[in-house]
Amino acid sequence: MAGTYPAPRKRRTKDARGDDRTNAFAGDGARHPDRYDPDADDESGAAEPAMTTAPDAAFPLIDHHLRCEGIALESIAQRYGTPTYVYSRQAVLDPFRRYAGALAGRQGLVCYAVKANSNLGILHLLARAGAGFDIVSGGELARVLAAGAPASRVVFSGVGKRADEIADALTAGIACFNVESEAELHLVDAIAQRLGRRAPVSLRVNPDVDPQTHPYISTGLKSNKFGIPIGDAPDLYRRAADMAGLEIVGVDCHIGSQLTSIAPMLDAANRVFDLVDRIERDGIPIPHLDFGGGLGIAYRDEEPPEIEAWVAAILSCADRRGHGNKFFLVEPGRSIVGNAGALLTRVLHCKPGAEKNFAIVDAAMNDLIRPTLYDAWMDVRAVHPRSGVPKTYDIVGPVCESGDWLARERALCIEEGDLLAVLSAGAYGMSMASNYNSRGRPAEVLVDGTQMYLVRRRETIDDLIALESVVPD
Ligand code: LLP
Repeated sequence: MAGTYPAPRKRRTKDARGDDRTNAFAGDGARHPDRYDPDADDESGAAEPAMTTAPDAAFPLIDHHLRCEGIALESIAQRYGTPTYVYSRQAVLDPFRRYAGALAGRQGLVCYAVKANSNLGILHLLARAGAGFDIVSGGELARVLAAGAPASRVVFSGVGKRADEIADALTAGIACFNVESEAELHLVDAIAQRLGRRAPVSLRVNPDVDPQTHPYISTGLKSNKFGIPIGDAPDLYRRAADMAGLEIVGVDCHIGSQLTSIAPMLDAANRVFDLVDRIERDGIPIPHLDFGGGLGIAYRDEEPPEIEAWVAAILSCADRRGHGNKFFLVEPGRSIVGNAGALLTRVLHCKPGAEKNFAIVDAAMNDLIRPTLYDAWMDVRAVHPRSGVPKTYDIVGPVCESGDWLARERALCIEEGDLLAVLSAGAYGMSMASNYNSRGRPAEVLVDGTQMYLVRRRETIDDLIALESVVPD
């Protein structure tokens, strides 16, 4: 049977600063905040003015040059070449702080979804600001720890966790496994018993609501592979409560990504509250509620809810349902980093075609797959706009596929050698990049005021072939 929450586990961890201190999430009588204080762990500097969430807010055009904070994008291209991902430190921290602020006065934690952008520089920024992390692999756990975050602020999602990943995460002392099937529940229990531990678990339930987003990024429909059908959950909770290797710490739900309205999430939340009422009536306390990520951003003219409105909707629903005193988790990815990043690319050729004009650029589908994979519209701007009559171009890369396009039918006044910036590329850009066509992945640069930092160097061909070998003759 689950104990009280936060459980009085004495677990001390090294944090981003290197200090030894008790984590805020797993709880400690002395340190655990009664109410979430978003500034408590924020060592990332004094409060800075908030940016809006418009696609170009972090990349304004000033004196005919696109900039990122105090740096002209042109100077980044000169120093590090192209294609290069550029991120604004302030534009990453601002939405994180807005989430944290929206949870202020409650018990809760903002667990950044690492899959959106797993660069160590970004993770380190967020770790220093007090973030928790939502991971989906042992690799992501290793990154989070390397970035200096305590394991006790990590939740582990995903439908196919391997036994070694589960054992490593348990040994590291993560806060919670978001379990997605009965088979996984048994596996986590067995591993925990073998290691002489109790694994903190939450069942990820599938509420069967339509999130009204692209089918590839819907996860909360019963036709999706994700989560445990919500109707099966009470029975599984009862069985989990009897497993010696498990400690039930919550319920989890994530219905999809790039959600532009609150209604489906609230629909899901109400179903989750029905479930919690039922399980608690069965005598199983549910200390935390995890509502996943999914809040969309404006790529063009979408008008997603503001972060504050999104969190407030969850909290007031919880209050209405009598669960306002629980510990709240959210797992945002895109809405933290999406509009904080741009992909900088150079025009190689302007090629008139029989039916359309092509601007062939040095970034391709391997660097940014979202347009061709999801038919996603991402804004493309000239870094140093020319005056003149624009022509309509398809922006395409050098990869040998007709699906290798970044944007279609864009009116631009450009010439060979010009720099372009693909906006809103901070989420699911570099983290989904590949080496297709033996192309090294882009460099990544983090801008902080008037400083630029290379947070990942460009891959070389030596990097690419270093892992391979030939068979002897
Ligand atoms: N939590 C879970 C369990 C998730 O599966 C996801 C995203 C998130 C949180 C974060 O969702 P976000 O706040 O970023 O929407 N590659 C796609 C998006 C895939 C999202 C996968 N899961 C894209 O480029 O649109």
